[in-house]
Amino acid sequence: MAVLPIIKLGHPSLRKRAEEVTEFNDELKELASNMIETMRVNDGIGLAGPQVNVLKRIFVIDLEQIDENLEPRAYVNPRILSESGSEVMEEGCLSIPGVRADVTRSAEIEVEYQTLEGEVIQETLDDLTARVFLHEYDHLNGVLFIDHISPLQRKLLAPKLKKIEESHSLV
Ligand code: NI
Repeated sequence: MAVLPIIKLGHPSLRKRAEEVTEFNDELKELASNMIETMRVNDGIGLAGPQVNVLKRIFVIDLEQIDENLEPRAYVNPRILSESGSEVMEEGCLSIPGVRADVTRSAEIEVEYQTLEGEVIQETLDDLTARVFLHEYDHLNGVLFIDHISPLQRKLLAPKLKKIEESHSLV
């Protein structure tokens, strides 16, 4: 396993749409275990392909600290089948270090994704699991949590965001 470098706000790959995974091979499994390792080392609960500059539709989530049944898992080619309810929760992102803000998202979602073996799974997620899934799913479409915050919050965070962009855009 290897720890991968995480790209930060200002890197163009964070704003691109990631491509479907078509091959469920050893390379994909290695990518997933490296992403899980990278997420753990950085104390994250989720990490998406584009954040390690891999523009593939894959993300990993680890909520084991909250629920022992939620061991680190990879989600490949995820889709959101339905959304309901609404909930406000504070979010952060490993690609936008030091910034946290309230984001409104659906409280319950029905999702479909593939495992690393290509098996199709359908699940209903709620609470923090739904929250992290939606945050990571956004990454696959070039969307960041700061795109969902209020104009006022955005204005308040603007200097901080600019600083991150300037210090990382050339890396
Ligand atoms: Ni993120």
